[in-house]
Amino acid sequence: MARHLVTSALPYINGIKHLGNMVGSMLPADVYSRYLRQRGHDVLYICATDEHGTPAELAAKEQGLPVNEFCAQAHEAQKVVYDGFELAFDYFGRSSSTQNVEITQHFARQLNENGFIEERAIHQVYSPADGRFLPDRYVEGICPHCGYDKARGDQCENCTRVLDPTDLIDPRSAISGSTSLEVRETKHLFLLQSKLQGEVEAWVDKVGGEWPQLSSSIARKWLTEGLHDRAITRDLDWGVPVPADTWPGLSADGKVFYVWFDAPIEYIAGTKEWADAAPEGEHRDWKSWWYEADSGDNPVRYTEFMAKDNVPFHTVMFPAIELGVREPWKKVDYVKGFNWLTYYGGKFSTSQKRGVFTDQALDILPADYWRYFLIANAPESDDSSFTWEHFAATVNKDLADTLGNFVNRVLSFSRKRFGDKVPAGGAAGEVEAKLGEEIARLLAEYEAQMEVLQFRKTAAALRALWSAGNSYLEEKAPWLEIKTDQDGAALTLRTAMNLIHLYAVVSEPLIPASAKAMRSAFVLDRDTATWVTTEQARALHTVPAGAAFTVPSVLFAKISDEELETYRARFGGGS
Ligand code: 2FM
Ligand code: ZN
Repeated sequence: MARHLVTSALPYINGIKHLGNMVGSMLPADVYSRYLRQRGHDVLYICATDEHGTPAELAAKEQGLPVNEFCAQAHEAQKVVYDGFELAFDYFGRSSSTQNVEITQHFARQLNENGFIEERAIHQVYSPADGRFLPDRYVEGICPHCGYDKARGDQCENCTRVLDPTDLIDPRSAISGSTSLEVRETKHLFLLQSKLQGEVEAWVDKVGGEWPQLSSSIARKWLTEGLHDRAITRDLDWGVPVPADTWPGLSADGKVFYVWFDAPIEYIAGTKEWADAAPEGEHRDWKSWWYEADSGDNPVRYTEFMAKDNVPFHTVMFPAIELGVREPWKKVDYVKGFNWLTYYGGKFSTSQKRGVFTDQALDILPADYWRYFLIANAPESDDSSFTWEHFAATVNKDLADTLGNFVNRVLSFSRKRFGDKVPAGGAAGEVEAKLGEEIARLLAEYEAQMEVLQFRKTAAALRALWSAGNSYLEEKAPWLEIKTDQDGAALTLRTAMNLIHLYAVVSEPLIPASAKAMRSAFVLDRDTATWVTTEQARALHTVPAGAAFTVPSVLFAKISDEELETYRARFGGGS
């Protein structure tokens, strides 16, 4: 049994996320964590809302709420959706927690002691009308690269180039719209990443070889371009305050840390939140997950999940911070990066409300439909496209026909002909032996793909397991067999019921609610969702003759042509 720490990129607090966010971070992390738990590993899956920075302040302003109230509400709203998606976090924290304030300030002090932080005077956009500096998204204007007229001070959404507010042409305040802006000098803290370049490079050389190509190539590109010193503070009201004991002047000016400085530290702080939230009498040792000196002889393997735009921060900037702190904080072992999920080939966009949002998805269909589709089409080696046509075809074929129909057909037919106990039938024959071999082989394929975090291939192996059951049923045709050979038909049905139980166990990481429905169809003495051994897969004998069963209601409803049309009309398919 190994210890696995899993984190997924922290969703920004400003609004409900779309399916593209879900497939590139939280969902695959959940699938992987569930699998590892079923295999008996000690797993800790931590996520949180990313609450600081200008997006939070601007969204709060738009809703007319104080930013702390806005964040508290928005955190709960996101949590409801993630519960609906059955994301089994061990803890879903908040980057504005006191734990994160403490650990972020500690990191900053350490970096300072070790000579990796410097105070520098820089020029920033100042708005006399607003009486404040305008960092990042507080300034809008024309992108100097592509001419887009709603470019934000931190990045142009049109051409994705990273910008500085002073780069914008015809800048205006995002608060008041004022265009009489000035550039004023102000002091900020800089992280001297250039001094850590060599150490980060050596670390990436050591661990990055194992990462998927997408993650390692992004890390190497950043390192080749060279690590630049970076401002890690901002003139904002909302954020982790610069500690007064170390920087009294900046603290008095009300400076806070930049959101990308405190956000990854929340992975650690979220773990402390988890420990602090332990029920009476339970001790949770958060530090043993993060502080290598405290891990003893039970080392932790740390896997991170994120979309490709987040990869540089996780492979270079956060490791640089951890290295510069000069304390043995756990660094990531495996960075699973994802490409983009597109909506009919175009961008999903939160600000332009384009695509399908996670709350809307759950209003339409249960989580398992989305979970399966998204994992089966995860944008791993390339971008992949969401279309309603593809979604409906996948649901109808894989979930409704291949899995759902198999389950229903087998259980209903058996109940009709043999009553509500699993029939005995004769001893397993050659066809069952061949089936057992095939199931064992496909299970091994599923496990192998999951172990290397290849989600599309994992889903393909799962689908092949479901298909093998269909082929077996077609070959044995118990509805014909029963006319001449009752025992033979009973054996076929018992074997098929064992397949259903096996599907229940191995489908759990992808479609947990349906897996539960399948598993609870059988009344077994000692039943757990613990993983299936190769022997069990070959023998197909977990559900013995005589066990009682019920027929669950239809597992997956097909999406009709009319429904498909309604979705296309509501969400604007392809236009
Ligand atoms: O890109 C994003 O959605 C960020 N909120 C991810 C932060 S990940 C981490 F470092 F906290
Ligand atoms: Zn641009």
